[in-house]
Amino acid sequence: VELFGSGRKNSLGFSFADPVALDAMARGLQQALSRPWRAAPLVAGRRLPGAAVPVRDPADRRRQVGEVVEATPAQGAEAIERARAAASNWDRMPTEQRARILERVADLLEAHRDELMARIVREAGRTLPDALAEVREAADFCRYYAAEARRLFTDVMLPGPTGEENRLRLRGRGVFVCVSPWNFPLAIFVGQIAAALAAGNSVVAKPAPQTPLTAMRAVELMLEAGVPEEVLHFVPGGRALGAALTAHPGIAGVAFTGSFETARAIAAVLAQREGPIVPLIAETGGVNAMVVDSSALTEQVVVDTIQSAFNSAGQRCSALRLLLLQEEVAERTLEMLSGAVDELKVGDPLRLDTDVGPLIDEGARERLQAHGARMSREARLVCQAKLPQDADHGCFFAPQVFEIGDPAILRQEVFGPILHVARWKAGDLERVVEAINATGYGLTLGVHSRLESTVERLLQRARVGNVYVNRNMIGAVVGCQPFGGEGLSGTGPKAGGPHTLPRYAVERSVCVNT
Ligand code: SER
Repeated sequence: VELFGSGRKNSLGFSFADPVALDAMARGLQQALSRPWRAAPLVAGRRLPGAAVPVRDPADRRRQVGEVVEATPAQGAEAIERARAAASNWDRMPTEQRARILERVADLLEAHRDELMARIVREAGRTLPDALAEVREAADFCRYYAAEARRLFTDVMLPGPTGEENRLRLRGRGVFVCVSPWNFPLAIFVGQIAAALAAGNSVVAKPAPQTPLTAMRAVELMLEAGVPEEVLHFVPGGRALGAALTAHPGIAGVAFTGSFETARAIAAVLAQREGPIVPLIAETGGVNAMVVDSSALTEQVVVDTIQSAFNSAGQRCSALRLLLLQEEVAERTLEMLSGAVDELKVGDPLRLDTDVGPLIDEGARERLQAHGARMSREARLVCQAKLPQDADHGCFFAPQVFEIGDPAILRQEVFGPILHVARWKAGDLERVVEAINATGYGLTLGVHSRLESTVERLLQRARVGNVYVNRNMIGAVVGCQPFGGEGLSGTGPKAGGPHTLPRYAVERSVCVNT
C-alpha cells in the first residue's frame, strides 16, 4: 500500500482464511522445515569455523532446530576493524544507492517469507500470525528507512545574512554495534541494522543467543540484496561477546533492545572505554498499564486485554501488565475476561489454532513460575488458562490473571503471560496516573474510555511513549506508530519514526565563501 504522496509502502497483509494462499504458505513452511539450519559468524563475507552448539525448539526442548557457531571476542574485534575500514566508502555512496539496496532487502525478505517464518516459529516459539507480522515489519523498516534516508540525507541550504553558502548535511557516524532481542528475532534485528545502514554506518550485528538462525538468514539476504560484505558483519554470541563489542574503542554507537539492566550495563561500559563518547540507542522494557473507565465498551476491553497481555505469550515489551479497572465495571469485566482466558489455546505455535506459544526457554519459565508463586501468596488468582496435555517437553506457561490490591507491588517488568488487575474509584484518575508514572517505566499505555476528558487527562499526565485509545496496545506499525518509550523504557529515538535516522548520524555544517 503506497501511502498517498509519500512514496513509501507498507507491506501487504495476508489472509489466513484464504485456503489457496494458506496452502502455498504451508508448502513453503514444510520445505523450510525439512532443511538444516546453521548459523556462524560471518565476517567480511567469510563464514568462520568453530564448535557448533545446538539450537532447541522452545515448544519441545527435545527437538534440535539447528546449530550455531558462536563468535569469540577476538572475532568480534576483527569484525569491528573490518567494518571500520569500510564505513567511509559506504557513507560516501549516494543516498539513492543505499536506499535502493535497502528496498531490495525488503523485497527479498518478502520473497523468502515462508522460510523466515519457519525459523521464527521453531526457534523463537512465535505463532504463525506473529511470525508473518514480523516478516512484514522487517520489510517495512527497510522501506521506511530507505525513504527517510532520501528525505533526510540531502544537503539542507541555510541561507542567511552571512553572504556565504551555508549547508547542513547528515553523515554516518562509523561502526554501529546492533544488539537485538530474541522476542522479535527478525523485525528488531533487521530494523536496527536497516536504520544504521540507511544513515551511512557500517554494522556489526549480534543477535540474541537464543535466536541466531533467523538472524543468520536475514544477513544472508541483506548481502544478497547488495549490502557489501565489508559493511555488515554477523557475530552470534552471548553476554561476553556483547561486552567485548561495546568496550571496543573503534565503535561509533550502539543500538540495543532488551532489558533495562543490560542497557545500563552497556552505558557503563561505553562510559569507561577509550575513545570518544558515543550514543547508546536503547529500547527497554515496560510495566505497561491499560486504564478502563465506566464508559468503556466491555466486550472491546476484553478482546484488547487478551491481545495485549497474552499475544506472543506476553513476551513483548509493549505488552499489557497492569489492567486498571474502574470499580463500577470491574466485576463484569473480570467475569467476561475469565471466560475469554478459558478459551485460550496454549500449544505448538506451528498450529494455526494456537493462541499462545511457549516461553523462550527454561529460565524464562522459572522466572514466571516464581512470580506466579509470589502472586498466589500476595494476590487473588482471578483465572488461569489450561496447559495442553503434551506440554511437558516445551517451555509452556498457562496465562494467569491476578487481582492485586496496590499497583505499587509491581515494580519490575514481568516478561510473560501474567496479567495483574487493580481497581480504582471514580474521581481517582489522578492517583491512577501517579501509579503509572511511579513505575518509572514509560513505554505503552492503553486507554478504554468514551469520555474525552478521561482520555485527555491521561494523555496530558502519563509519561509514556505510546498511547493506544480504545484498541489493543501492541504491534506498532512502522512509519505510522513510531515506537519507543521514556524513563526506564529507553533513550529514544522511536523505532520507525521520522526522528530515528538523525540519531544514527552526525551533523556536518559546511560554509563556502562564494
Ligand atoms: N514494536 C513491538 C510492538 O509494538 C514491540 O517491540 O508490539
